[in-house]
Amino acid sequence: MAERIDGKSVSAKVKEEVRLETEKLKEQGIVPGLAVVLVGDDPASRTYVNNKKKACAQVGFYSEEYALPATTSQEELMDLVDRLNHDPKINGILVQSPLPKGLDEEAVVEAISPEKDVDAFHPSNVGRIMIGNFHFLPCTPAGVIELLKTAGVTIAGKNCVVIGRSNIVGKPMAMLLLHENGTVTICHSKTQNLKEICRQADILIAAVGRKHFVTADMVKPGAAVIDVGINRDENGKLCGDVDFEAVEKIASCITPVPGGVGPMTIAMLMKNTLSAAKIQHGLPL
Ligand code: GUN
Repeated sequence: MAERIDGKSVSAKVKEEVRLETEKLKEQGIVPGLAVVLVGDDPASRTYVNNKKKACAQVGFYSEEYALPATTSQEELMDLVDRLNHDPKINGILVQSPLPKGLDEEAVVEAISPEKDVDAFHPSNVGRIMIGNFHFLPCTPAGVIELLKTAGVTIAGKNCVVIGRSNIVGKPMAMLLLHENGTVTICHSKTQNLKEICRQADILIAAVGRKHFVTADMVKPGAAVIDVGINRDENGKLCGDVDFEAVEKIASCITPVPGGVGPMTIAMLMKNTLSAAKIQHGLPL
């Protein structure tokens, strides 16, 4: 039976570290500040934004929330980003994705000052990650690396397979595994022999967005399985991309959904915001 990797406890540990460092910064009169922008009324996005705000309060950050209607124009959104770019109380800006149809998400991301881009979505930060000279790591992939390390999984030299190639998870995930000296394969909807490739994986990362996509016959016995998916089953219950009950019997360790990767994304966001505040005040990281 696989060890369950407890994302909640690892996340709590990371947040506690951030809280202690924030206390020290406050002695110097510095309060890290995060602005979270939500456009429209997607219920999942609303939940994520609430959790991000709650985490800010836990670690002692200043936070602002902008909940804008789905009818918000591109210009209004760009104006808000511009205002936040120039606001000294705000060290990190997060515009929750996806934006409602009709809004140009790429343009919004590019408008965020790279120094305040705590999602690490700006092309300048993406490029920095590619060459290994970065200040911020994208929150979800960074959280996955943290979970693997906590679980005692060695990445160097291992076969790592990432299923999914999104800009938010799949692509940066592959890059971070490569930085850790993993041998990395990215699979996607056009991949042939998906099952065979997945069965080679010592570390299998599922970021597909389809419930029970990863079945037991796709998993090598003893593999570490990380489930990035957040889906709903037919009863409306949260579930990941992995058939947890079956795969748990084969893997050496596995993340549950909920309580695995999700809490880590938020913890890494807090870490990035703390780094942003330090950098903007000319302090060492
Ligand atoms: N939507 C889903 N995950 C994320 C994330 O990490 N950041 C932002 N901004 N939007 C998201």
